[in-house]
Amino acid sequence: MKILFATPELAPWMKSGGLGEISWSLPAALHEAGMDVCILAPAYAPLLAAFPDARQVAEFAHPGGSLLSARLLEAKADNGVRLLLIDCPGYYVRAGSAYLDGAGNDFSDNHLRFGLLSRIAALLAGSASPLRWHPDVLHCNDWPCGLAPAYLHFMGGAAAPTVMSIHNLAFQGIFQADRLEALGLPPAAFAIDGVEFWDKLSFMKAGLHYAQRIITVSPRYAEEIQTEEFGYGFAGLLRWRREDLTGILNGIDMRAWDPATDLYLPRHYEFAHLKGKDANKTALRQRLGLEPATSCPLLGVVSRITHQKGLDLLADIGEEIALLPAQLALLGSGDKHLEAALTELAGRHPGRFSVTLGYDEGLAHQIEAGSDIFLMPSRFEPCGLNQMYSLRYGTPPVVRATGGLADTVVDCNEETLADGTANGFAFTEPSAQVLLETIRRALSAWHDKALWRKLQRNGMLLDFGWAKAAEAYRMIYAGLAKRKKADRAHSPAAPDKAGTAA
Ligand code: ADP
Ligand code: GLC
Repeated sequence: MKILFATPELAPWMKSGGLGEISWSLPAALHEAGMDVCILAPAYAPLLAAFPDARQVAEFAHPGGSLLSARLLEAKADNGVRLLLIDCPGYYVRAGSAYLDGAGNDFSDNHLRFGLLSRIAALLAGSASPLRWHPDVLHCNDWPCGLAPAYLHFMGGAAAPTVMSIHNLAFQGIFQADRLEALGLPPAAFAIDGVEFWDKLSFMKAGLHYAQRIITVSPRYAEEIQTEEFGYGFAGLLRWRREDLTGILNGIDMRAWDPATDLYLPRHYEFAHLKGKDANKTALRQRLGLEPATSCPLLGVVSRITHQKGLDLLADIGEEIALLPAQLALLGSGDKHLEAALTELAGRHPGRFSVTLGYDEGLAHQIEAGSDIFLMPSRFEPCGLNQMYSLRYGTPPVVRATGGLADTVVDCNEETLADGTANGFAFTEPSAQVLLETIRRALSAWHDKALWRKLQRNGMLLDFGWAKAAEAYRMIYAGLAKRKKADRAHSPAAPDKAGTAA
């Protein structure tokens, strides 16, 4: 099975959140499961630097519309997965993240930058691909790849079937309708049964409409996005496509996130030897300038600081948390107002609260290991990775029961303690008061050493590896590839002259 996996982010070189991590660990898992998978991503500067020997395998002189020309480079990662990198310095080599400039604003040409990613994904999946390697399935991730299924639709001819993965429906790639021409899409595409979304052009809509299958990153989120509350305007479309929509829970990188071997931890530990976890707490307090108070539990947060993540709820109950008493170690970045509110809160409680703004991989691991309780009060969470890390690190999470959080965290109560599934604390109503009550509930459990050990055990022994998900993806790909063979028998190849083999 040959899979072309198109993505705008690829950890560790370019990562804004979970998508970057998944774009590395899912293809690796598919490769390990015996599939021939190739990642397609923009050649951002860190990728060019990491793969200086990448060789040119094709050139796209006129990819379509007013999209810049690009070269396609091929490289091989250490784990054997092949990378195809779209080398177009005019689009991809600049300061900032994958989507934002240094000041946190969207790049003004994001429609072209990700139009090119989508276009090349489509060209490689179509019958006129300049490569000898023809994928059986094109797997598109989030809105930046959303136009690929639309391009394929209008190219005609035999092509690999497409899967559209939703990692976060709140990001939709919406642009003015007059961008269509520059993107090389025909006017006919701008229709309600096309890329049009409330009079604008939406990359996400294109993917959801034209892809043969839609996957999202947890079963619960697959249900939720069919409701108005979570559907961000797409609930109707997703209900209409529900037969083609599947939720597959993400796995985690079990090697990078293992408290027994984690490179960032001052002391390693595992369930049978939890003493090392205390040493991590002491080291974390020291690093962050928190009081070494032994009787005060430490709450941890690692997150984008946004409305989605519900950290405004946490800011609202800051004073109450200080009085519980509890300490707080927070790492994140995002919304400037909320960053300021959280920083001010920490300023009022030196030694008790620590807020670190910015991105710090090592500190993220140390907070997972050194905290007693991990907080994720997300308003919505397609999957969420941090709650799985915290379960594995013996740091029971307090979460809102939504999306992947609901699929992984089992609220602690008499029944779940009795059947051995309890591993954290979950609440439903997204309010600061309910969050506070749930934190109180978690703290009273924390004071009961035997109960807490049970919770830690139930979380730490869970298997969040990719094997199950890889099998679910294989089944979906296989179903689509069968369809492709049937289609190929009926439709002649249509030439598309945009690409030439080098
Ligand atoms: P999302 O993708 O919505 O941000 P996820 O839970 O899927 O949420 O993934 C977020 C990933 O990014 C996690 O691995 C988390 O540890 C990491 N992360 C988020 N913020 C930071 C930060 N400030 N520093 C280091 N890692 C971070
Ligand atoms: C998105 C979601 C997050 C998910 C990640 C990887 O960023 O917000 O919940 O874990 O994608 O699928």
